[in-house]
Amino acid sequence: MASKPRIFATADVGKEPLDRLRNKGYDVEVYPSIEAPPKSLIIEKVKSGIDVLITTLRDKIDEEVFSAGNGTLKIVAQDAVGFNNIDRAAANKFKIPFSNTADVLTDATAEFAFFIMGCVARKTYSSERLVEEGKWPSWHPYEPFLGDEVTGRTVAVIGTGRIGKSFIKKAVGFDMNVLCYDPEYQDHNFVQSIQRLMDARFAEKIVPKQQMIKYVTFDEALRDADFVTVHVPLLMPNESKNPTYHLMSDAQYKLMKPTSYLINTSRGPIVDEKALYKALIEGEIAGAALDVFEVEPLPMDSPLRDPKLGLKLRKFHHFASGATQTRLSPDPNVGMGGRTVQAVLDMLEDTYGGDPKKMPYIVNKEAF
Ligand code: GLV
Repeated sequence: MASKPRIFATADVGKEPLDRLRNKGYDVEVYPSIEAPPKSLIIEKVKSGIDVLITTLRDKIDEEVFSAGNGTLKIVAQDAVGFNNIDRAAANKFKIPFSNTADVLTDATAEFAFFIMGCVARKTYSSERLVEEGKWPSWHPYEPFLGDEVTGRTVAVIGTGRIGKSFIKKAVGFDMNVLCYDPEYQDHNFVQSIQRLMDARFAEKIVPKQQMIKYVTFDEALRDADFVTVHVPLLMPNESKNPTYHLMSDAQYKLMKPTSYLINTSRGPIVDEKALYKALIEGEIAGAALDVFEVEPLPMDSPLRDPKLGLKLRKFHHFASGATQTRLSPDPNVGMGGRTVQAVLDMLEDTYGGDPKKMPYIVNKEAF
């Protein structure tokens, strides 16, 4: 009898999703710590002949890992939509498929971007802190600080894939104008539909002012927006003709209005943090809310921890998809854990005749 498939998960992606594998009699080992396992352990497990490696964005899955799994590793199943930690060329070289969890975290991530935009603009955290710390002096028309409205303002959405479009749908309800920029993927039908929705809201007198949405150049988006929200994948200069590494740097902050805010829920290295620090300190932009950082967890000596930044910067712990159902539902149409496990089952159970090209959650279909 063939031995049962062995699965190593670098993190617990949810009891219920993983039970779907255990209930089939598969051998599931989960790295027990909340820290990421050392690379050497991942290599050791892969070399030992596991069939499946379940990963998160903290694990560097490079040529060394794929080479160790040559001939034995059937799939790397990533519990995230982003996969910049996985070397796609190396996966293709060894013809090892890898999957991600696109779709199921779209709304959770987009709503989180929306919430932290409101949080930094309306200074909600700073307000809570006043109350907590007993520093609330008295109601006053403008002391100790005021925030900025979101309703009716203009937002630049950088990246109009799934998450960018979900953000736009939420922005319509806040009567916002929307400037779209995406060098790789433009959905003009979607933009036209949203414009018709905006037109209808105005015609029905639901809003007093007409809103608009359009694709513009990157510079126009930055120059004319009150909020800039980033929803692009991390692409290094050697990976794309439109790299996104440090997409937001000195020149971009200079173009933005001094009253504008930057929101990043995509990947940390898209924002040049040194340049952002300078832009915030020098008042080139009004503020920023970041859910992702160039190095995570954020180092204790990061300039972004400088108390001089005061109310201007809000920082979150890479939490945008961190909603219970989004993270842990065993249903592949609802949860990241469910979708990760479904990708594994598709592979181990030959659901698609063993053809990775036909499996819906495989990313590197080009290799097969
Ligand atoms: C989170 O950042 C993800 O890519 O799923």
